[in-house]
Amino acid sequence: MYETILNLHSYWAYLVLFVLILAAGNALVKSFSGKEYSPKDFRIALFTLIVSHIQLLIGLVLYFVSPRFDLWSELGGGVMGNAIARLYLVEHPLVNIIAIALITIGYSKHKKKLTSQAKLKVLAIFYSIALVLLLSRIPWSTWMG
Ligand code: HEM
Repeated sequence: MYETILNLHSYWAYLVLFVLILAAGNALVKSFSGKEYSPKDFRIALFTLIVSHIQLLIGLVLYFVSPRFDLWSELGGGVMGNAIARLYLVEHPLVNIIAIALITIGYSKHKKKLTSQAKLKVLAIFYSIALVLLLSRIPWSTWMG
């Protein structure tokens, strides 16, 4: 159970990063070059929203089935003083939940805007900040190593 969820979360992360880089990059480039907002932009933004929400659900399940969760009872308050435990149990989940909230807010705000420029600007800002947050708290050493 744990291994399966961990694998799923680990591979799904490639998809999340790929579509988020695509969505943020696309919105930034189109925004700066003053291009029109098209149905393709809408589809990329929506697909990124869906893919990241699925990762959120997988992550929530993983949090409780992971043996790392036992560190809460083993270390207690010591979790905050241990960089690795803090990364997995506090920083990674919290920062990624904030990142996914930003994607959600950006997506719904962009839909309500009326002009191409306003839509692309909202997407560019919210999706890019989410990307930076996400990259900042990935456990790179265990993921790539
Ligand atoms: C878009 C958001 C997210 C991305 C891209 C992401 C990505 C990753 C990656 C690449 C790993 C390392 C996997 C490995 O070692 O093979 C990981 C581990 C982990 N993630 Fe996420 N994650 C996200 C959101 C979340 C959320 C929201 C939670 C919890 C609420 C979460 C909980 C965990 C836990 C507990 C681990 C460590 C599991 C273990 O090693 O036992 N993740 N995540």
